[in-house]
Amino acid sequence: MLRIGNSYDPLLRRPFAAFKLRNSKGIFLEIFYKVVGHGTRIMSCLGPDKKLELLGPLGNGFKLPEKRNTTFIVAGGMGIVPLRGLIYHLVDSEIGRVHVFVGTKSTSRLLFQDEFQKMGVPLHVSTEDGSAGHHGLVTELFEQYLEDFYPMDKHDKICFGCGPSPMLEVVAQITSQYCLPCQVSLEARMACGIGACLGCVVRLRNQIFNNPEGEKKYGRVCLEGPVFDVREIEW
Ligand code: FES
Repeated sequence: MLRIGNSYDPLLRRPFAAFKLRNSKGIFLEIFYKVVGHGTRIMSCLGPDKKLELLGPLGNGFKLPEKRNTTFIVAGGMGIVPLRGLIYHLVDSEIGRVHVFVGTKSTSRLLFQDEFQKMGVPLHVSTEDGSAGHHGLVTELFEQYLEDFYPMDKHDKICFGCGPSPMLEVVAQITSQYCLPCQVSLEARMACGIGACLGCVVRLRNQIFNNPEGEKKYGRVCLEGPVFDVREIEW
C-alpha cells in the first residue's frame, strides 16, 4: 500500500503488486502501474527523488506444490503484473514447464512480452481487436489449448490466474471442468490494506470452511487474499 505524497490528497493509500528486481546496482522494488485515476495520476508526476511511504508486503501469496509437470499462467490486462514475479520464480526453479496465456485489448497493451520470450517461456497471446495472436478472449485461447493438448495424464499440473473478476470466473469454470487445481490473485479496491475496514471482501463458499450453520463467509482480499483457491470463492 503506497501513500502518495505527504498531504491528505489522496487520503487513502493505493494497493499495488510489487516486483523484486535484482540488477548490477542492487535489489529494488518495482511498482508497475497504469494511470487510471487521481492517485496514479499524481504518482505519474512525481520526480525521481520523491520518497513514498510504503506499507507491506501484505496478504498471502501463491502456494506452489513441490511436484508439477506444467504450470499454466492465465492473465488478463494488468493482471500479468502480479504474476510476473511468479513466472520468474517458476522459470528459475526449473521444475516443469510454464505456459503463459495473456489477453489484452490490443498489441500496444501487451506487457513484458520481450522479457518472457527471452526467458524461453511459451507465450500464448490474445487480443480483443485481433492485432496479435488469437482474436478474442484469453479464456477462449486457454480453453482451446486445454482441449487440444491437455493429455490424459492430468497429474502435477496447476494454474495461476489474475485479471478482472469475470475473466477469473471463467478460468474457474474451465479449470474445474478439467479438474485442474487453480489459484487466482483477486483485484479489489482497498482502503486500509490490513483487514480493518472490510472494504475489500469477497464472498466465500461455505463448504470449504466447514461451516455447518450455512452462514455466508467473507474473505478479505487484503488479508486472507489476494490469492484464493478458485473453489473457495462464491463467484
Ligand atoms: Fe480494509 Fe481489506 S482493505 S479490510
